[in-house]
Amino acid sequence: MAGIIFSGMRPTGRLHLGNYLGALENWVKLQEEYKCFFGVVDLHALTTGYTHTEEVKENIKEMLIDWFSAGIDPEKSTVLIQSYVPEHAELHLLFSMITPLPWLERNPVLKEQVRDLGLKENINYGLLGYPVLMASDILIYKANAVPVGEDQIHHVELTREIARKFNNLYENVFPLPQVKLTKVPRVPGTDGKRMSKTLGNTISISDPPEKIKEKVKTMITDTEKIRLNDPGHPDICVVFTYQEIFNPGHSEEISVGCKTGKLGCVECKKGLAQALINKFKKFREKRKYYEKDPEIIKEIVIEGSKRARKIAKQTLGEAKKAMNLDYE
Ligand code: TRP
Repeated sequence: MAGIIFSGMRPTGRLHLGNYLGALENWVKLQEEYKCFFGVVDLHALTTGYTHTEEVKENIKEMLIDWFSAGIDPEKSTVLIQSYVPEHAELHLLFSMITPLPWLERNPVLKEQVRDLGLKENINYGLLGYPVLMASDILIYKANAVPVGEDQIHHVELTREIARKFNNLYENVFPLPQVKLTKVPRVPGTDGKRMSKTLGNTISISDPPEKIKEKVKTMITDTEKIRLNDPGHPDICVVFTYQEIFNPGHSEEISVGCKTGKLGCVECKKGLAQALINKFKKFREKRKYYEKDPEIIKEIVIEGSKRARKIAKQTLGEAKKAMNLDYE
């Protein structure tokens, strides 16, 4: 085994193409080489979602069905729910003692959230501590590699800072984990903006073929290409961006066809929809199986969390001992 990996996703329900390419597809491959821990980080979801907790259960279920249908294998990987392993929260508390506020205040992700969510001075304590909780997710399994997208690099750096400080102050308990950057193309939303549920521009990997066709049909192409034979500009066309990602073997031919006015948008979109439908065919079949019996998912994740907890308890014990919190 090449090492230990931890990665997590906030429970957002059914995953979209961006979530899939940005993380899940990669996780499935990493299982072959690494000892993997994959966490549903439900506590992290509360940092911004504490007013609508009624959604969390359903979102966890739908997301886990996606994970297992896409090939996360509970025989190979440990799949856990963060709040089922309360040691994450306890280690977070210990880490919070050694984390200076300025480390958290300069967090660029937080700054973005403050802007996007209109939080201004209204930042809650939990949200400020988001990266500390993330550090405890990673370090409690002594992970040395963390596969994440570019937006999370700062958080993993902070994890290293916290580990380093802990090791220096007390005992050498934690490894200094590395970012394992997932180099994947960013999938834009169907409108060309960032793909996001709140913007309503997503394609879910579990969308049935009809829905995929429908969504692709409404995508806006090069607005100057009105008639079939008008020459188009693939470089400014979202549909072409998708073609490059999901139809890589044909993208050159599509580009030429578009530019020379031989390939019309309707035809081009049909091809794209078909490529997407094919890519997730096996996934949809597997998903039906889990949908019929979601209890299986529950059992897997309870079992996984138990397994995770054994290791988490061990690490937390070491951390507490290093901090002289082992009275008796
Ligand atoms: N912050 C991550 C995200 O938003 C989710 C996450 C929480 C995570 N804990 C983690 C990712 C630990 C990697 C490792 O995508």
